[in-house]
Amino acid sequence: GLHSVVRGVGSYLPEKVLTNADLARLVDTSDEWIVQRTGISERHIAAEGEFTSHLALKAARAALADAGLQPSDIDLIVLATSTPDQTFPATAVSVQSELGITHGAAFDLQAVCSGFVFAVSTADAHLRTGAFKRALVIGAETFSRILDWEDRGTCVLFGDGAGALILEAVPEAEAQGRGVLTSHLRSDGRHRSKLFVDGGPSTTGTVGHLRMEGREVFKHAVGMITDVIIDAFKATGQSAETIDWFVPHQANRRIIDASAQKLGIAPEKVVTTVQGHGNTSAASIPLALDVARRDGRIKDGDLVLLEAMGGGFTWGSALLRW
Ligand code: ACO
Repeated sequence: GLHSVVRGVGSYLPEKVLTNADLARLVDTSDEWIVQRTGISERHIAAEGEFTSHLALKAARAALADAGLQPSDIDLIVLATSTPDQTFPATAVSVQSELGITHGAAFDLQAVCSGFVFAVSTADAHLRTGAFKRALVIGAETFSRILDWEDRGTCVLFGDGAGALILEAVPEAEAQGRGVLTSHLRSDGRHRSKLFVDGGPSTTGTVGHLRMEGREVFKHAVGMITDVIIDAFKATGQSAETIDWFVPHQANRRIIDASAQKLGIAPEKVVTTVQGHGNTSAASIPLALDVARRDGRIKDGDLVLLEAMGGGFTWGSALLRW
């Protein structure tokens, strides 16, 4: 059979940085409150006229350069976002077009903060069939556009950015144990009103704003995350001891720490970028992967555990050997 191996990774953050001190001038909050509750110090915010597709394109180009590949080598683009440029067409086709790709397929996928894990799993499934050779798996968001900048309970949590991972289908013998080893996806729509956007094309005809019951999300997060990671360990025989890196969705320092602790994952194996990126939803994992790859932490052959949980609720894990 075929395996989906990692060929490259890249990311992009908008230039503008919004610090906690900046936020304290907009709403009744403080650097101390935000850092203590979330671990976030600053986040990047897209400029006027800078869209999700622009961030995605820059991340995609960085990943192609990292892989030493040309756009024409890509025949599948799966782009996870909850903040597309337009209701339709998919943001993925804008990226495809800007890259000059006219073959293969490109589509968006929406699972909120779990989007990147869902996209990795989806791309892996397509690559394994042999129908596609190389996939750009992108997480890209401009959550700043759907925040209520008067709601201190949510506007301090999120940021904008994009990350991209290139997966390539190679025969099992050639993969030599590398690639996506397993993925586990879950959803439970009974929780859909705990984290949602109060607008949409079919309901209000507006874009809407993000609404969240923060405590309810927090209450469910750690249990859901750890369940789906235990599924990944059971499926592969791997464990907290054998993984090299834990790269969780970057929502909140406390959720990340509590999950790692419950699973027995050593703190030095946990990659956290939430302090500088905030929660970039579907973009947070590929952004963190790129940081840890560039600073030399993730090496060829390392076992990397991805995990996310978000609106829906949706949650999932993916285990890959780089
Ligand atoms: N600055 C100062 N005070 C604030 C702020 C703020 N930015 N936001 C809320 N408060 C106040 C509240 O008004 C409340 O005041 P009150 O007691 O006078 O009513 C008080 O702080 C406590 O509010 P809680 O919401 O109970 O605070 P909590 O300790 O739960 O922290 C937080 C809030 C950080 C949102 C937390 O619930 C959390 O991390 N939840 C997880 C949510 C999350 O990460 N979502 C991301 C999307 S989902 C995902 O990606 C997994």
